[in-house]
Amino acid sequence: MKKQIFISALLLLLTGWSSIYAEDGSRLWLRFDNVSKPATITGVKGTAMTELQTYWQGSPVLLKRQKGIAKDGYTIKSQDAKIVITASNDAGLLYGAYHLLRLQETGQSCNQLNISEQPVYDLRILNHWDNPNGTVERGFAGKSIFLNPDPERMKIYARANASVGINGTVLNNVNAKPEALSTESLQKAKSIADQLRPYGIRVYLSINFASPIKVGGLETADPLNAEVVKWWKEKVNEIYKLIPDFGGFLVKANSEGEPGPQDFGRTHADGANMLAGVLKPHKGIVMWRAFVYAPQSPDRANQAYLEFMPLDGQFADNVIIQIKNGPVDFQPREPYSPLFTAMQKTPMMVEFQITQEYLGAANHLVYLAPMWQEFFSFVKPQTLKAMAGVANIGDNVNWCGHHFAQANWYAFGRLAWNPNLTSEEIANEWLQQTFSLGSAVANPSLFTLHSSLLNLMLRSREACVSYMMPLGIHHIFAGTHHYGPEPWYAPRGLRADWTPPYYHKADSIGLGFDRTLTGSANVKQYPDDLCRLYNDINTCPENLLAWFHHVPWDHKMKSGRTFWDELCHKYDEGVHETRRFLAIWDAMQPYIDAQRFEEVQRKLRIQARDSEWWRDACLLYFQTFSKRPIPSDVEHPVHNLDEMMRFRIPISMYENPESGYNK
Ligand code: GCU
Repeated sequence: MKKQIFISALLLLLTGWSSIYAEDGSRLWLRFDNVSKPATITGVKGTAMTELQTYWQGSPVLLKRQKGIAKDGYTIKSQDAKIVITASNDAGLLYGAYHLLRLQETGQSCNQLNISEQPVYDLRILNHWDNPNGTVERGFAGKSIFLNPDPERMKIYARANASVGINGTVLNNVNAKPEALSTESLQKAKSIADQLRPYGIRVYLSINFASPIKVGGLETADPLNAEVVKWWKEKVNEIYKLIPDFGGFLVKANSEGEPGPQDFGRTHADGANMLAGVLKPHKGIVMWRAFVYAPQSPDRANQAYLEFMPLDGQFADNVIIQIKNGPVDFQPREPYSPLFTAMQKTPMMVEFQITQEYLGAANHLVYLAPMWQEFFSFVKPQTLKAMAGVANIGDNVNWCGHHFAQANWYAFGRLAWNPNLTSEEIANEWLQQTFSLGSAVANPSLFTLHSSLLNLMLRSREACVSYMMPLGIHHIFAGTHHYGPEPWYAPRGLRADWTPPYYHKADSIGLGFDRTLTGSANVKQYPDDLCRLYNDINTCPENLLAWFHHVPWDHKMKSGRTFWDELCHKYDEGVHETRRFLAIWDAMQPYIDAQRFEEVQRKLRIQARDSEWWRDACLLYFQTFSKRPIPSDVEHPVHNLDEMMRFRIPISMYENPESGYNK
């Protein structure tokens, strides 16, 4: 069945796609051309109708409004010779239209349709970490698309989001500059909102909690001060005059130097509820982040729970607490943040990071859906209100810096719509829509190649964990960037929890952070069964071993190897995976357009070389503690430790790697 679908998709690609567009990735997964003879589309006028008129090649479609269908949901049914899309709102019709186009683009049959869909989350939102000067925090794909919004690009952005069901976007960085609320920025936000509205996307803003002081000239930003509340009320009124469907605020408060209610002796709940009260009459919401950690806390992983649990149940009903998936910070692998199972009376949403701050930036091919699904294997989707993703979008021609990073934007949207979709389904859809494998139609080996490519995507996250930080190791990144390894980085005077030795704690006994009941007791923040599981070194999943335990070098692993030997094997396996990825891609050359083939190939070479760098730096450094040999069946480091410790990549090279890192 899959094979048939794939054949028809390929035929379609061959016949349907002209070469008027350069294959530079700028069209994302929406690579369909305008149809020459539009099908008859009748019923509700709007964006759904325009999209179908422009791109749909099948039988007539009727767009119908009907009460009783869930918000944003839709049905698609074949009726006589036509297809009927029914929804209760315009967004639902639009999502239905995109569903139909997706069937077309993936070559599936559009006869006898009987589809009924509704999103699991009402709010499916991107968080842009874009600054007013156009830089993007942890962005690896160029400048902010909102700096000088180009209407054509904004349209592609809007269509891409709507095609996967994303319905909200926060325009600016959580480290919000106060000027985000200046009248000039609000005018700009209005213009963006006007361009996104036809596609069912609302805009939101991150705010700086001290805005009443910094923008309003008040002496305080105390959330219980009447002048402060008045200032926010007026500001919010100003926003809604410009943007009547404005979504609300995202707030990073009392975290990493950002101001917050605690500066005035108030709690997170006081701060969030004040803003919620001001937004409520306009139906706006507050997304209040739980990403906090005190410099002196003995275990950073404990902090969010300690600060937020006492406030459970105290938040207004239009506040959602936005929690990163893991308790530390978007590491290649973390356990889930225990707040998700602990808080019972507070609406929560998960924050995933689509931009690969800690997963090789825009240089490494790492398909993130498996990581997000791992999260959902612990946290039931229905216990959450919404899903947010830190965007990986910039003004690079291909939007995300790496062609395959587009898959992460795509997968985020699809999972926010339905977290029960599998990583494989999503990757398959994306691959089929994104790559024309034209001349390969007649080639039976194409299916093998397609499956290897799919397989590569599915293995890529685990590969990244292996060559960066396997077996529960975490946060051993370089001090000045989060791209390469510097497990030794610990300048005197820097707060400990910003240095790798705080996390890996390597010594002559072993490696890892003791978070057991006799250590930092972080395990206690988990439900009892997990607490027991994680607390015992013999039952703790091996992929989280050094997260929860200080693991002795000679600890026996399930493979029969010692922990040290296993570590060596894992790192080496990661390196071999990246080489296999390169070989898989190389075999695709005859079937992929030249530009994208070469660009991806160049990145995969960087990834293969970086993985060696990771393996060598980490193993050679940890070996100075373990004092054990690298097993003979593992490829030995090609670098030496001194060389690795001297190696510095200029920031410009990892943010924009093509500028010279490769030389
Ligand atoms: C990470 C990231 C910062 C970001 C912060 C946050 O620490 O490195 O750039 O501001 O997360 O999520 O607030």
